[in-house]
Amino acid sequence: MAGTEGGAARSERAARTRVGIVGAGPAGLMLSHLLALHGIESVVVENRSREYCEARQRAGLLEAGTVELLRGSGLGKRLDAEGMEHDGIYLQFEGERHHVNIRELTGGRWVTVYAQTEIVKDLIAARLAAGGAIEFEASDVAISDVASDQPVLSYVSADGISHKVTCDVIAGCDGFHGISRQLIPNISTYERTYPFAWLGILADAAPSTDELIYSRHSDGFALYSMRSPSVSRLYLQVPADERLDGWPDDRIWAELQKRFAVSGSSWTVAEGHVRDKSVTPMRSFVAGPMRHGRLFLAGDAAHIVPPTGAKGLNLALSDVTLLANALSAALRDNQWELADEYSDTCLRRVWRATHFSWWMTSMLHVAPGSDSFESQLQLSQLRYATSSRAQATALAENYSGFQPVHFNR
Ligand code: FAD
Ligand code: PHB
Repeated sequence: MAGTEGGAARSERAARTRVGIVGAGPAGLMLSHLLALHGIESVVVENRSREYCEARQRAGLLEAGTVELLRGSGLGKRLDAEGMEHDGIYLQFEGERHHVNIRELTGGRWVTVYAQTEIVKDLIAARLAAGGAIEFEASDVAISDVASDQPVLSYVSADGISHKVTCDVIAGCDGFHGISRQLIPNISTYERTYPFAWLGILADAAPSTDELIYSRHSDGFALYSMRSPSVSRLYLQVPADERLDGWPDDRIWAELQKRFAVSGSSWTVAEGHVRDKSVTPMRSFVAGPMRHGRLFLAGDAAHIVPPTGAKGLNLALSDVTLLANALSAALRDNQWELADEYSDTCLRRVWRATHFSWWMTSMLHVAPGSDSFESQLQLSQLRYATSSRAQATALAENYSGFQPVHFNR
């Protein structure tokens, strides 16, 4: 921060920075990193601990544009050493596995498996090495005066001291359950909840597939992903609000073997010690505008997609790339046009990803109570997606991210 003003009470510190950022998820950390590359100071305020943020199991699949953003902003070292580049994905239905060759269909794009946990670790390390301010375990985080040109971010730091930070701009990167979105008056929201959830496991088992498998089975969807050559990440469609205690490891492996079985083949899912287990609800949610006065929303604070399209993390990082470009023009050159366009520019991309994620989800999951008519429609759509070049290209383009955003250096 630029400095503590003299005369403040011992228990309350007043300070100034250019951009106050709420949330140390991928969006908040990346925004702080990109702003620093523009020479713009920021402070990130996060209510969880550093350990918690670094361990939270979530996304794993990066679009080509996201990989290039990470490389171009100096975060490519571990990604290039440990990330796993894939040319395509498999779509499986009725016991048949079909390859969708993204690289060939899109003229060269790809996807990379590199876990969100690793991106968060890389970003925290980069910010701290550059002297960046991240306040973990903050409480009573509040935002005020966003309609003025001096919005205020206040919080109590882990050592019990109250802070009041006057900013030029505040970025709400505080995820779906954060405090920022509520501060946008007359916000419109669009929502769809799905009648199922994902049970995800992380297992010490070498993946028995070279690329991700999205499988539609009559008993429900399953996804085979991975984290490294020795760690698999697998998901099963389960009823919404399913309790984990009904899913001992043996039941999970048996269900995975069944949903990934290939007719006439002895192929199996490699099993191993289950390290982590969780249930994630499925939701589509879009809120706009993503700006009010000097408050800007980014990432899950403004929009959520079901994970079937692997879009959430990629969208969060493109939002903050656009925001860093806009804030650089506004705060360095007093040019506010990009900031004025920020919400519309993001929401156009967000709705495309929302449609794609909804489409993938609807095609691959078996909704409770759905009938054979719906099953036949899904199977017809899957056959079309794997046999028509035009349809496969549309899937490959959307999946690998056909609208990359570029960081203006
Ligand atoms: P978050 O990661 O939610 O970060 C918000 C931060 O704000 C958190 O650290 C939170 O603790 C903090 N915070 C909240 N409230 C406050 C407050 N009041 N004060 C201070 N701090 C606060 N996306 C993909 O692109 N590809 C995938 O393969 C993929 N797979 C997924 C699989 C699963 C099972 C799940 C659950 C999600 C998946 N996603 C995927 C989505 C992706 O994980 C999210 O979109 C991404 O985490 C969004 O980042 P964010 O920074 O906007 O929000
Ligand atoms: C993951 O690896 O966690 C992952 C990959 C693809 C998805 C969702 C999750 O669509």
